Amino acid sequence: MTDPSGYGKVSDQVLASLIEIVGDKNVLSGDDRENYARDETAELEPALPEVVVRPEDAASVARIMKLASDKLIPVTPRGGGTGISGGAVPIYGGIVLSLERMNRILEIDRDNFVATVEAGVILSNLYQAVEEQGLYYPLYPGETSSSIGGNVATNAGGMRAVKYGVTRHFVLGLEAVLPNGDVLETGGKFVKCSTGYELTQLITGSEGTLAVITKILLRLIPPPGKREVLFIPFNSLEDAIGSVPDILKGGTLPVGLEFMEQDIIKLVEQYTGREIPLHDHRAFLMIIVEADSEEEILRIANHLGEVCLGHGAVDVFMPGSERAKRNLLELREKFYSTVCHFGTPAIVDAVVPRSRIAEFIARAKEIAHRYQIPLITYGHAGDGNVHLHPMSYGTKHSEARINELLVKIFEASVACGGTISGEHGLGLVKKKYLPIAADKAKLALMKRIKQAFDPNNIMNPGKVIDLGQP
Ligand code: LAC
Ligand code: ZN
Repeated sequence: MTDPSGYGKVSDQVLASLIEIVGDKNVLSGDDRENYARDETAELEPALPEVVVRPEDAASVARIMKLASDKLIPVTPRGGGTGISGGAVPIYGGIVLSLERMNRILEIDRDNFVATVEAGVILSNLYQAVEEQGLYYPLYPGETSSSIGGNVATNAGGMRAVKYGVTRHFVLGLEAVLPNGDVLETGGKFVKCSTGYELTQLITGSEGTLAVITKILLRLIPPPGKREVLFIPFNSLEDAIGSVPDILKGGTLPVGLEFMEQDIIKLVEQYTGREIPLHDHRAFLMIIVEADSEEEILRIANHLGEVCLGHGAVDVFMPGSERAKRNLLELREKFYSTVCHFGTPAIVDAVVPRSRIAEFIARAKEIAHRYQIPLITYGHAGDGNVHLHPMSYGTKHSEARINELLVKIFEASVACGGTISGEHGLGLVKKKYLPIAADKAKLALMKRIKQAFDPNNIMNPGKVIDLGQP
């Protein structure tokens, strides 16, 4: 169904059935629904669901989906609600299916290096539980109050992808409930699999449009010994970005390799009241490295420092104390709230081949200059994943103008061999740009996949791909 007027309503009878499945206190139909009407997307209108349900197990999720299928009610799955593409916003009302009570860490299997967790587990709790068992889940999207189910649903990336990859590289298997209520198990506690279509990876990153993820098997690794952060100022962004290929060729991959310009540094200082060392320079790299011993980490840090100095770095700052390291990383994590605070109508998270990142940024800046819209630029240089924020600073740019600017920027990212979203997903706010990155054959196949999973289009409808679009 592509016409929302065909959806069923949450009638008293449906409410009674939901109460029978999850109990009275886990069916919210009053003012408390407002907490489920938005996520953390900048400047996005909230949309109130007709009802919020909070199941505690996959069997209840299955019954809810069966009911929603029978009554043609749209269902929006929701994890921590920290997404920034509008994926969890229930634009057609209906049911918000919150996984918040499914927050059990079921097992940490030390022999197989696998954690089995329910989808609603909050990331900070996962880190702690895994660490207590002497193991490590390295993915760090930056928002530790997000849920692991949400991370899997969006294939979240973050600041450690240079070395470790993204969420999907740690998903070994799933339990997921299909729109018709069937419960599906994919993958397993094994690292190799050549047995039919790869459903685990198809559902991972599908942003709740194919199935409700209820359980996840996550690959774990041994913990790193030491971590160090380098903060390196340059006189220009070109110099900073120019050192990236040589940093990556150095033999030891850094864990994270971030870039930023002075304007975001100044704004984050203003927003937090905290200071960043060497903040007067034009551009910076922040490099996170891990190694087994103090000597090894110093060797790597010295080498990376030399590489950067060879590319025009002005200085190399190594915080040394744990507190100073934390300060730097925390300030980096506050960039998104900072730009939201000063007013941004959008966040670009385009991704290009790492070797073309400088070219892409130059093109994006030139486009923004033509539109006379200031752009804040930072991102994950080591992944080719660039964040660009058109800023309002009190001036209201029309939606059409911002949209035109974004279209041009996305076209530039595709022309550089990249694509639209590296880590935030398309959700609601980026889906209209998908045809820039996907040709007719790919769009048609994606629609057929969606229809095969969800023939009634009740599973997070209106996200990722527009079925109504030609
Ligand atoms: C970051 C988020 C916005 O990199 O992806 O800060
Ligand atoms: Zn990011």
